[in-house]
Amino acid sequence: MIKQLDNLFVLESKNTTYAFHVLETGHLEHLYYGKKIQINSSLEAVSLVEKRVVLAGNAVYYNDENKSLGLEDVCLEMSSYGKGDIREPFIEVTHADGSYTSDFLFEKAEIRQGKKPLETLPSSYEENNRVDELVITLKDKNYDLTLELTYSVFLDHDVITRSSKIINTSKDKITLQRLMSNQIDFNDNDYIFTSFHGAWAREMKKHDVPVGPYKLVNESVCGCSSNRANPFVMLSRKTTSEDTGECYGFNLVYSGNHYECVEVGAFGKTRFIGGINPTNFEFHLEPNENFEAPEAVMTYSNQGFNGMSQNMHEFVRECIVRGTWKKKTRPVLLNSWEASYFDINEKKLLNLAKAGKDVGIELFVMDDGWFGARDNDTKGLGDWTANKKKLPQGIAGLAKKVNALGLDFGIWVEPEMVNVDSDLYRTHPEWTMEIPNKPHSESRNQRILDFANPEVVEYMTKQMENVFSAGNIAYVKWDMNRIFSDVYSQYLPATKQKEVSHRYIMGVYKMLESLNKTFPDILFEGCASGGNRFDLGMLCYFPQIWASDDSDAIYRVEAQTNYSYGYPMSTVGAHVSDCPNHQTLRKTPIATRFTVASFGVLGYECHLGEMSKEDLKEIKTQIEIYKKYREVLQFGTFYRTRSGNMYEWSCVSKDKSKAVGMITQLLFNPNTSYETYTPKGLKPNSKYHFTNRQLEFNLKEFGSLVNQVSPIHIKQNGVLHNVASSFIKMKGEKEDFITIGDILMQGVKLKQGFGATGYADDIRFFQDFYSRMYFMEEIEERLLENKG
Ligand code: DGJ
Repeated sequence: MIKQLDNLFVLESKNTTYAFHVLETGHLEHLYYGKKIQINSSLEAVSLVEKRVVLAGNAVYYNDENKSLGLEDVCLEMSSYGKGDIREPFIEVTHADGSYTSDFLFEKAEIRQGKKPLETLPSSYEENNRVDELVITLKDKNYDLTLELTYSVFLDHDVITRSSKIINTSKDKITLQRLMSNQIDFNDNDYIFTSFHGAWAREMKKHDVPVGPYKLVNESVCGCSSNRANPFVMLSRKTTSEDTGECYGFNLVYSGNHYECVEVGAFGKTRFIGGINPTNFEFHLEPNENFEAPEAVMTYSNQGFNGMSQNMHEFVRECIVRGTWKKKTRPVLLNSWEASYFDINEKKLLNLAKAGKDVGIELFVMDDGWFGARDNDTKGLGDWTANKKKLPQGIAGLAKKVNALGLDFGIWVEPEMVNVDSDLYRTHPEWTMEIPNKPHSESRNQRILDFANPEVVEYMTKQMENVFSAGNIAYVKWDMNRIFSDVYSQYLPATKQKEVSHRYIMGVYKMLESLNKTFPDILFEGCASGGNRFDLGMLCYFPQIWASDDSDAIYRVEAQTNYSYGYPMSTVGAHVSDCPNHQTLRKTPIATRFTVASFGVLGYECHLGEMSKEDLKEIKTQIEIYKKYREVLQFGTFYRTRSGNMYEWSCVSKDKSKAVGMITQLLFNPNTSYETYTPKGLKPNSKYHFTNRQLEFNLKEFGSLVNQVSPIHIKQNGVLHNVASSFIKMKGEKEDFITIGDILMQGVKLKQGFGATGYADDIRFFQDFYSRMYFMEEIEERLLENKG
């Protein structure tokens, strides 16, 4: 609900309130964002308003009528540069006279119902239109410019989104240097700023930095939202824990260069701004033209990081992801990449698919290498016709044969890129992003197509239409394998080169919009060398994204934990791969590879045809377990409990009747044999059947210790050892009991673990990189009236 009370605006979501008012000068003073409070009149907000009598020393006062107003020390809803506020501005414009001072003041407000989509960029939506919007129009009377700030309050979610639009209502050309999407000024600076950084194969490393008298910047100039710095960030209190305390989460519905900055000004207030990165950005606006900044998403919770994450998860699932696959459980896929890389042909692919079918795979995906002269990454990219040597009957023929095995068929594409050694580049060298007659810096031997050029967008959309309709295609993996360099559009004039990065992503969105419409039933999975473009913009078109090329479970348990702060697990593609892992050469038990991957959208990416019978049996069981709990794992409420040496997660079905949990350990600590798993989110008064995934262990894992129990001496790796290990399996512990949800949530004391001495039946064998899955099923209706 949005209330206008005189000059005061109060925005209320389910559990939060956001308030600001218009100062006499016309500036918007931010008053409050936090837990829900009742404000029923402007007078009641008096305690939230700063009382100004005299100006701080050495500060700039706004004007002669307002000598106590120094904008540098005011919490503002938006700030422009030049009138005394020297903190990070919301907007920067260079005017026709060369000045770059702006002063946007309140003109009018409109409250409306329903969510209006952005015109030029993807944006959130609400199926039941349970959104109220406030549009504030501001005017810079000195230069005749109009700025609109839109606030969308999602009534059933604790999310407020913001967007902004500048309209050149003047008679002159202007140059926009920056237009942010979000600004929120906090009264104090007792915060921790959390951001997520990394690189290829090590995406989403979490960094917590105390906010202080400096600027903290999280940004991408990669051309994509990037694995270097994800656009999702948080501000929390020093004492905030997973389940208690205050936390703000911020994200941007945008896939290009982004910028999030936290700055503490000279007077101790904290400013957060977020939007398109102003570095190398400019947009020229002729009279009557406008520019729209992407939609920013914010949420607040006083229920700790989990509370904030759950707000974000629900918002992403309900208001970002759309189309056929929004609520549909996702198939278990098998991807050909790590099994064969570029070395594919129909026979090999069909053998792999067949092995997949035997263990319960539902969708077979042919990755890179199927088109043009694509035998390696130096050539063929851009030529989107099937290589007849590899696929004699084309896509249609292979799809048909895969379908005949009882599997759906999916395909890999990378439409935004081209190899110089390709027919497309030879025909259209002017279609790439490169500076004519200057040396080019290449990455993965490929160049970026100029999606700032509408002709390229149109051509590639057509090409993709041809590919996606060339056979029975149920799934598309959309890859993008390099960051920008030599940014230049051969289509745009010299004056517009700083518009290229933004125009590029608008071109990509245009193509995706059109392909989503033409192929509504295809399940699209985004990918950019893994998680190089994992953001809310992409999630408007792709219900899931391949989170990292690194499928090592020990890396993934950390990465998926960190993705989970801002993104629901239904958006995170996660695969079980071969051992040793191809990215880390680490050896991790197959059960752990599954445990970790199963909390995302499960897939397999390994050489099933060359796996041991034992591993294939294990995979078959894994897929059965996943199918049984898939709905919970993909769409349940996700909780983090522990991170560090031990990771602990729980996922609870919407109706709380089922839950799945896991613990995964990095390194074993001797003589620490007791461990607890603590479920969350269960019905306190219901009875649950608690079980674990009981595992079996290979005798060889006990090394020469086996001689402590064996009647005859067993030589390590000798014949006897090998024979015995293939027949004798060591049964792991079994957890199986019934108790009440509330009791379970106090922590389940697990069976004793192997702690360096002694081994007996029912000992929890839990060494380096081991994990366990736990299952909770409600067995009867509430025992007592559920007051919780
Ligand atoms: C990068 C992706 O992340 C991989 O999964 C794979 O599809 C390769 N590209 C193919 O070139």
